Amino acid sequence: MKTALIFGSSGGIGHQFVEYCLAHYEHVFACTRQPQSFQTIEGDNQSKLHMMKLDPSSETELQLFSEYLTGRGFDIQLIINACGLLHDESRNIAPEKKIEDFNQKNFENVISANTLITPLIAKYLLPHLEAGAKAQQSTGVFASLSARVGSIGDNYLGGWYSYRASKAALNQLIKTLSIESSRRFKHCTIIAIHPGTTDTELSKPFQANVPEEKLFTTQYSVSKMMAVIEGLTLEDNGKFYAWDGKEIEW
Ligand SMILES: NC(=O)c1ccc[n+]([C@@H]2O[C@H](COP(=O)([O-])OP(=O)(O)OC[C@H]3O[C@@H](n4cnc5c(N)ncnc54)[C@H](OP(=O)(O)O)[C@@H]3O)[C@@H](O)[C@H]2O)c1
Repeated sequence: MKTALIFGSSGGIGHQFVEYCLAHYEHVFACTRQPQSFQTIEGDNQSKLHMMKLDPSSETELQLFSEYLTGRGFDIQLIINACGLLHDESRNIAPEKKIEDFNQKNFENVISANTLITPLIAKYLLPHLEAGAKAQQSTGVFASLSARVGSIGDNYLGGWYSYRASKAALNQLIKTLSIESSRRFKHCTIIAIHPGTTDTELSKPFQANVPEEKLFTTQYSVSKMMAVIEGLTLEDNGKFYAWDGKEIEW
């Protein structure tokens, strides 16, 4: 039973990944901390949807999810981590314009949302992806949403200390994981992917200077990222892609 797991599925991009996968997979687990915020999906694919209330920064909850999946016949083919944090007015979190704006609490919150979740998902769920890919004789894909601003080589503007650092650290974790995976999870490809500037709550305060044609709908950015993901082979393990399939410098 070809299955996809989507984390951060109440988010703009995560929700659209769920919609896409419902049309292409036999089962889709929409993992979210807040199922009450998950926008209802209309249509014929309802029976494929498994809503999973889960905090992916909790090892206990990930372990329980892993135990739940064991022996139930789901062939996990795809895991997407679409969790992320750039700003949160309710907690006074905003990307820093200058070093005086930097503070420990915000840095920890941003790291927790952007960096910590991918290795935790890998720890508990990569064995399921490996088993699913092996069973289907295919390439299992674990894709985490990163951001071009996490590229150290591509940093010409500065600012956004916490977000940039959290995504740079995420990228290093993905690269490191891909090296271990080539030895231990030989049917899996692990990548980072940049969605392009996409119209969601996360980008809303920063859209004013984005030209119209460069601000993507979630439908467009997810369809482009899925085209990249569906074309991946084991050779692509450990790469950082943009939405259009071009590689980004780590
Ligand atoms: N939108 C853009 O222009 C853009 C550009 C570059 C990169 N990205 C990246 O793309 C990803 C998705 O972004 P988006 O635009 O869809 O953002 P979004 O609409 O704000 O959704 C982000 C989701 O992340 C999850 N999340 C946030 N903080 C979390 C935490 N502490 N622990 C666990 N989950 C947390 C939440 O999902 P649940 O409520 O379901 O748990 C939230 O809905 C992020 O990694 C972002 O950095 C986005």
